[in-house]
Amino acid sequence: MDKTTLDSLRLAYSQSPENATLGLLLAKGLADSGAPKEAVEIVVKLRGLGDADKLAAARIALVANEPKQALAFLDAETADALFLKAKACLLTLDHLTGLTAYKKAVALNPALEDQQLMQSLSSSVTEAKGGDNVVGFKVIKNERPPAVTADGDDGEFGQKPAVIAEDNSPPITFAEVGSLDEVKKIITRKIILPFQKPELLAKYKRSAGGGVLMYGPPGCGKTLMARATAGECKAKFYNVAISDVLDMWLGNSEKRLHALFEQARRTAPSVLFFDELEGLAGKRQYEGASAGSRAISQFLTEMDGFSKNNAGVLIIGATNVPWAVDAAFRRPGRFDRVQFIPPPDLDARRAIFEIHLAKRPIEDKLDLNLLAKSTSGFSGADIEHVVDTACDLAIEDALDAGKEIPVSMKHLSAAVREQKPTTAEWLATVRNYARYSNEGGQYDEVLEFLNRHGK
Ligand SMILES: Nc1ncnc2c1ncn2[C@@H]1O[C@H](COP(=O)(O)OP(=O)(O)OP(=O)(O)O)[C@@H](O)[C@H]1O
Ligand SMILES: [Mg+2]
Repeated sequence: MDKTTLDSLRLAYSQSPENATLGLLLAKGLADSGAPKEAVEIVVKLRGLGDADKLAAARIALVANEPKQALAFLDAETADALFLKAKACLLTLDHLTGLTAYKKAVALNPALEDQQLMQSLSSSVTEAKGGDNVVGFKVIKNERPPAVTADGDDGEFGQKPAVIAEDNSPPITFAEVGSLDEVKKIITRKIILPFQKPELLAKYKRSAGGGVLMYGPPGCGKTLMARATAGECKAKFYNVAISDVLDMWLGNSEKRLHALFEQARRTAPSVLFFDELEGLAGKRQYEGASAGSRAISQFLTEMDGFSKNNAGVLIIGATNVPWAVDAAFRRPGRFDRVQFIPPPDLDARRAIFEIHLAKRPIEDKLDLNLLAKSTSGFSGADIEHVVDTACDLAIEDALDAGKEIPVSMKHLSAAVREQKPTTAEWLATVRNYARYSNEGGQYDEVLEFLNRHGK
C-alpha cells in the first residue's frame, strides 16, 4: 500500500471511526508498511468484528509484539484462533494455556502442526511450572521406560551387570494381529492353555516345559505374534536380542544367562523371547569358537534345567531361517514345538490393512478388498509400509491444501505400486527344504501351505 492510499484511508477512517472494516484495512496497511504500533492503536479500538476480522486483528497485534492485545481477539474455538492463541501465550509466558490451545488447534486441523512451537511451549511447561499442573502433559516428556537389571555378577572384567530390557511397550493381544486365525487357534491350544493350566497338565503327567520356535518369512508377524501371545497370557514380555546374549558370553560371564532365566522366573508369568535365534543356534557357525560353543551349551543347559521347573515362564524363539537352526535346539524339552507363521492370505491382508489404517484420517469409501487383491505376496511389514507411504502422500496433499486431506484410494494405490512383494524369495527357498530335507516332518505346515496356494 503506497503512502497516498494510506493517507486517504486515514482520512476516511477519521471521518467515520465506527466503520470497523475501514479501520482494519487501514491497520493492515500500516502494519505492512512498517508501522505496527500505530496499527495496533487502531485495532484495539475496533468493535463488532466478525471471526475472520478478529483473526486479522490478532495477527496485527502479534506482529507488533502485543500478545495481550492479540489474546483479546482470540476467544473463538476455531483451529486458526487457537493456534494464534498458542503463539500469543508463548509470548505472555503462559505456556500451559498455550499448550492446551496448541493441542486443540492441531486436533482440529493437523496441517497446523508446528513442532518448534510445541517444543518451545512444552519445554517451558516442564521447566517453569512442574508439579501437579503438568500431569496432563506427560507425553511431552521423553520418558524412558525403566530397565530391569539382572543380578548376575560383574564378570572377570568388571563390566556393568547385564541389563535385560523388560519390554514396557503396551501389551497387545490377538486382536492386533490381522487374521491368521488358524495360527491363533493352534497357539491357544498348544501354548496358551498349557501355560495357563499347569495343574491340569501335571495330572496327566505332562509338563508344559520346553519352548516354541516360530518361523516364517520376514515381516509376517513372528515378533508380533510372540508379543501377542505374551499379551494373551497376561505375562511380562522380555525381548532378548541374541547379540546381547552373545555379548554376555564374550564377557566371560555365563552366569548372566542364568540370571536372565532366573529373572524371568522371579517375575512370572513372563515370556522370554529370543528373536533371530539362528544367530545363536546357527549350524556349525560357532564350531571351534570356544565362546560360541560355550554359548550354545550354556543356553541348552539352561533350557533343559528350565523345562523341569518353569512354572509361569514361556520361552519363544523366532527365526526366518529355520534350516540354519541346529537340530540340537529342537530336542524334547527345548524348542520342541514349532509353529509356522505364513505370509498373509487374502483375508489376512485385508485385516492388516484395516489394522494399520485404523486411527488414521481415511476416506469413508476405501476398497479394502481391492487392496488385499492387489497385494498378493506382500508381507505384513510390506503392507504397513504401503500404509505409511500412502499417509506421506496424503500429508503432502494436506500441506499443499492447507487443511487435512484424508488418505484415499488414490494414495493407497500409488503406494502399492511403489512397494515390491517380499515373501516370494523366502517361499522359493523354503520349498526346497520342505521337499528334500523334511526330517521329522518339520516343514509339513509349509508343504501344506504351498499345496493350498498352488505354489
Ligand atoms: N498379521 C499381522 N497383522 C498386523 N500387522 C502385521 C501382521 N503381520 C505383520 N504385521 C506388521 O508388520 C510388522 C513386522 O512384523 P514382525 O516384526 O512381527 O515380523 P517378523 O515376522 O518378526 O519379521 P522378521 O523376520 O523380519 O523379524 C509388524 O510390526 C506389523 O506392523
Ligand atoms: Mg521379528
